[in-house]
Amino acid sequence: MRIILCGFGVVAQSLIKLFESREEELYSKYGLKPRVLAVFDSKGSAIDQSGLNLEKLIQVKEKFGTVKNYSEKNNSMKGNEILKNVEADVLIETTASNYKDAEPGMTHITTAMKKGMHVISVNKGPLALAFPSLMELATYNQVMFKFSGTVGGGTPILDYAKNSLRGEKITSFAGILNGTTNYILSNMATGLSFDDALKDAQDRGYVEADESLDLDGLDAAAKLVILANWIMGMKVTMPDIKCVGIRKVTIEDIRKAETNNSVLKLIASCDKELMVSPKEVPKDDPLGVNGTLNAIAFTSEHSGTQTIIGKGAGGTETASSILRDLLDIRQEIAKN
Ligand code: HSE
Repeated sequence: MRIILCGFGVVAQSLIKLFESREEELYSKYGLKPRVLAVFDSKGSAIDQSGLNLEKLIQVKEKFGTVKNYSEKNNSMKGNEILKNVEADVLIETTASNYKDAEPGMTHITTAMKKGMHVISVNKGPLALAFPSLMELATYNQVMFKFSGTVGGGTPILDYAKNSLRGEKITSFAGILNGTTNYILSNMATGLSFDDALKDAQDRGYVEADESLDLDGLDAAAKLVILANWIMGMKVTMPDIKCVGIRKVTIEDIRKAETNNSVLKLIASCDKELMVSPKEVPKDDPLGVNGTLNAIAFTSEHSGTQTIIGKGAGGTETASSILRDLLDIRQEIAKN
C-alpha cells in the first residue's frame, strides 16, 4: 500500500513507529505492507518513490526536528505538489485542525480524492467545515474516506455506533468529547481555580497550541459535527452547533453541581438540537468520568443506552485508529 503522509507531528511519528514495530505481523496477519513514499512537515519534505526508510525517517526527525534532512533531493516540496506528483494509493492527513478555512488539510484531501486516492484523516477541520461535500466528493471519485481517529482518539467511538449498533436506530447521544476540558473541570472539582487548573493542563502538554479550540468548545463541536453526520445522517457543519465553552465556569458552578450530587462536564449532545455546553451530570452516571477521559452514551430505540469510555487523545492511541482505517481499506481493496 503506497502512502503519502501529510504532516509529521506526534500522531504521524507514532504511526511510523507502529509500522516499524509491527511490520511482520501486519503482513502475516493482514497482508498489509505499508510503503510510505512521501512525508512533509512545516520545514520540508522527504520523498522516495520506492519507499522511505522508516527508521531513518524517525532518526532524522528526532535529530534535526524536520524530515527535510532525510535527503537533499526533493526536500522542499509542499503537500499539494507532492500529492500532484507522487502516485500513491492512500493519503493520511495529519496536519493541524483549524476551523476557519480548514487549510491546508482541505486542499490535501480534495486533491487526493480527485486523483483517485483513498483518504484517512485525523485532521478534524475539513470534516467539521465540509463533511457533506467531502462525502459526496469521495463517492463521486469512488474512493474510501476514513476518519476513525477524529473522535475519541484510539477509542473506536465512531465504529461502535456505526457498526456494532448496526440495524439499531440511535435516537440521541451525549458525551464528553474533549479530554483537556474534562481534565480542567475534574481538577476544579477538587478545589483548583480555573486559572490554576488551566496552567496545570498546559504544563502537562494537554492544551492545544490554540487554547481556544479546547476552552471554547470548538474541538468538541467539530467532533459533534462528525458524529451527527456519520451516525445520525444529518448534513450539518460547525455553524449548526450551539457552542459554549468552559471559560465562564466558576467554582460556584462546580459547588452548585456538588450540592446536587452531580459533577459539571462539557457535554456535546445530539437530541432536539446539536449543542456543546457545560452541564451537570449525576455523580453515578457513566458519563461522570474524570481526568482526560472521553465518554459517550448512545441511546437507541431497542437496545437502550450504552456508554463507551476511553482515552480520547494521544499519539500512539490515535495512530492505532489510523491503522484500523488502513486495514479496512486494505480489506476492501482485497475484496474488490
Ligand atoms: N484537544 C483534544 C482533547 C485532543 O483534549 O481532547 C484530541 O482531539
